[in-house]
Parts: sequence; C-alpha cells; structure tokens
Amino acid sequence: MADMLLSDALLRWYRSHARALPWRAQPGEAPPDAYRVWLSEIMLQQTTVAAVKPYFSAFTERWPTVEALAAAANAEIMAAWAGLGYYARARNLHACARAIVSDHDGKFPETEAELRTLPGIGAYTGAAIAAIAFGKSATVVDANVERVIARLHAIETPLPKARPAIRAIAESLTPEIHAGDFAQAMMDLGATICTARNPDCQRCPLQGACLAFRTDDPGRFPIKAPKKAKPVRRGTAYWIERNETVLLVRHPERGMLGGMRALPSTGWREASPGPADAPAGIDWTRYGTVSHVFTHFALELEVVGGRALTDEDHQGEWWPIATIEEAGLPTLFAKAVALVGAQRENDQ
Ligand code: ADE
Ligand code: SF4
Repeated sequence: MADMLLSDALLRWYRSHARALPWRAQPGEAPPDAYRVWLSEIMLQQTTVAAVKPYFSAFTERWPTVEALAAAANAEIMAAWAGLGYYARARNLHACARAIVSDHDGKFPETEAELRTLPGIGAYTGAAIAAIAFGKSATVVDANVERVIARLHAIETPLPKARPAIRAIAESLTPEIHAGDFAQAMMDLGATICTARNPDCQRCPLQGACLAFRTDDPGRFPIKAPKKAKPVRRGTAYWIERNETVLLVRHPERGMLGGMRALPSTGWREASPGPADAPAGIDWTRYGTVSHVFTHFALELEVVGGRALTDEDHQGEWWPIATIEEAGLPTLFAKAVALVGAQRENDQ
C-alpha cells in the first residue's frame, strides 16, 4: 500500500469507527474549540481516556473558557487536578491560560512553532492542537502511534533508539488535509485494535500494509530496551489532629507535587528517616505504610498519627476531617488518609 492509500484507508476506517469522546468533533465535522482540544491533550498525557473523562467535564463546567481558567485561583486548579497525577501539568496549565489571555488576546496561536512557546506545550501537544483544532498538517506521535508504526514496518531497533525513524515514517504518512482526523485515527487504532497486547489484526484496516502481520507474533513490536528497576525512597507522613481538624501543608511550587496540598512529611530519601525527624510533643500511633510509584522512583511512606496539644507549634491549614475529600490531596496522600480513616473508624 502506498502512503496515500494507507492514510486514506485509515481515514475511511475512522469515519465509521471513531470513538465518541467529549473533546472531539465527529470525523469530517468542524473542529472543536482549541481550548477544549488543549485541555484534553494536556490531561491525556500519560493518562488513560477513562481517567480523563470526569476531570475534563469537571474542568469545562467550572471553567468553560480559557479566560475563566486564567482568572481562577491557582490553589483551586491544583485541587481540582488532584488524582490525575503529574502535577507539573496543572501548574503549566494555569501559566499557559494566563499567557494566552495576556499575550495572545485570549486566542490560541495556530502553528506548532507558536504553540510550542507556551508553558507545558511540547512537540506532542503543539502538533496535536495544530492538527486537531486548526487543521494543520502536523505530525502527532504518541505511544499509540509509535506502536502502530513500529508494527507496520516491523522495526527491530528497540525504543527509545527507534524514535527518530518512527517520527520520519509518521511524517511521511501525515496527509495534507484531515491531519487531525488522521492523528486521532492512529490513536484510536492503537487504543482499540493495534493494542499493546494481542493486536486484533483481523479487524485492522491496515493489515494489507503491515509487515508485523506477516510474522508469527505482531505483538512483539515495538521492541523495548530493558527497563532499569526504579530506586526505592522512604519517608514518614504525619497525621496531626486537633479538634476534628487535621494539619495540611502545601508543597513548594518547585519540586515533587509542587503547589499541591499534602500531609506534613519528612523528606523522601534512600534511607529511612529516624524518629528524630518527628514533630515533638506528640504521642505517635503507627498506621502502616502506603506505596506509590512516581516517574523516577517508588516511594514507601510510613504514616503515623497523633493529637496536637496546641496549634501553636504547627504551620499550615487545619482542615476539617469531615470534608478531607475536598482538600484536593494527590493520590499518595489520599491513600495515607484512607489508611488512617479505616483505623480511626475501628477505634471509635
Ligand atoms: N490520546 C491523546 N489524545 C487523544 C485524542 N485526541 N484522542 C484519543 N486518544 C488520545
Ligand atoms: Fe497492528 Fe495487526 Fe493492524 Fe499490523 S495488522 S497494524 S499489527 S493490528
């Protein structure tokens, strides 16, 4: 199949098989608002469609335009993002909305090059917005697209080394028109048919052009370089209670979970923190340990709790325990709160 035939075959398949998603126009229809395309593409980075859907509706109901988002308080945006992970995305989201309003008259620029000057918009997101919202012939490469192309060409070079070759092929396949539909068709094919495990080649519109299909194990591609095991770090989080409230702090803007609310905790190091780190004057109960995997390390967080005799020695917000779910804690600390909650109920 020549490249044009291949993109035509994929576009034809997409017309009848596109997933209906809240941030999408149907194939061939007028493109959706750039604000919705941008917001969805930021949310979808390293995150599944199923996880994104409720956040996308909550954000667009609460902040229907880029102006509304730019005017929101940063703490509100961070709290609304809680649970989605990769919190730098939420910080950049707010910075980008503000830049659009202050430097671009409230309108998203239309070219990849201009889009990429904005906070949080890299090669992937710039191309996705240019193609999907503005119909530019931009090439969008995410993990789905990488998988489909590695299989079409039966690429034996492992990832990440194969990336430049994959990108070059993706560029050669990108059509001049309907590039937004083409990008989303590649993603849908990767998500529903050319899946990571057990691709369903019998239903695939690209079967005739696929070199992996002619091998006895198409799912072997893409070949991946072996992963290094993640280092483990440890720390202790403190549940400090007083008068039916619990002490929360906000992580500094820079660094892990920047700008997010959290339980007070020690630093996270290779070695276990000693008892000397615990705030003084409290009789501690051990609640157990929660685990959480971040991009570059796995964390084992011991959770201890106690009652403060006075609020004077502690800096932070005293948050009502009854409404702790509204604090917007990231998943790691939501797990710690659940651990404490289960045992407080037993105690009472
Ligand atoms: N993943 C990232 N962006 C997507 C989109 N526009 N459609 C489907 N899956 C996606
Ligand atoms: Fe993927 Fe199979 Fe289609 Fe090839 S034929 S692109 S391996 S689903």
